Amino acid sequence: MKQETGKKRIIIAIDGPAASGKSTTARRVAERLGYTYIDTGAMYRSVTLKALQQGVLDGLRHSPESVSSLLQNLSIRFDGDRVFLDGSDVTAMIRENRVSREVSFISSLKPVRDRLREMQQELGRQRGVVMDGRDIGTVVFPDAELKIFLVADARERAKRRYAELIAKSPEGEDLPDLDLLEEEIKRRDKDDAEREHAPLKKHPEAYEIDTSDLTIERQVDMVCNLALEKGVAGR
Ligand code: DC
Repeated sequence: MKQETGKKRIIIAIDGPAASGKSTTARRVAERLGYTYIDTGAMYRSVTLKALQQGVLDGLRHSPESVSSLLQNLSIRFDGDRVFLDGSDVTAMIRENRVSREVSFISSLKPVRDRLREMQQELGRQRGVVMDGRDIGTVVFPDAELKIFLVADARERAKRRYAELIAKSPEGEDLPDLDLLEEEIKRRDKDDAEREHAPLKKHPEAYEIDTSDLTIERQVDMVCNLALEKGVAGR
């Protein structure tokens, strides 16, 4: 059952480092509240995939200003859990390791951030959304009524990523080991936190939740309870 009309519909911004539990938490909070879930990491991943498909990544490293051609006619659409880039379903492809390795670079480029921020603000215009990312509470929706900052121990996050990769990889495919995953996660956190434009950081009003020892159910309860305190009606 969706929320009744007339009830308060807010924006819930969930930020935090890689694999801190943002997307699972955000998706389930949205389900419980009858809100729309928007995964902004998937949008940065889609632009990265487009750069890989067009073979322009190396060129971009030398002349980042040429990124504008990548953004021309860019279309990113969500349909439930599926993500469509320029009309093609890229849901699985944007999770591949080759995309994860390059996404911090693409998301450090100002024209990319400007363009995706506009798209995200448009997606949230009607409120009633749970949006997760790195800069949602700080830059995209600094007026979000509820801001959450999720954190977790790096080893624990590497374990979660590993479990995800095992679940999704075809049998027999080589998987990176846990140490390597932890290293990649830490590198990505550092890149995301130190970049010039819209770095990963906690908004002073955000509620920080450490998910290292929490179950998903508990995280979802905590965020939903905070939403109820903000006047959102439960289902
Ligand atoms: O949440 P994720 O791991 O799918 O995000 C992929 C990358 O996208 C992440 O390393 C940083 C970038 N990102 C960003 O810069 N801003 C956002 N709002 C969301 C993601």
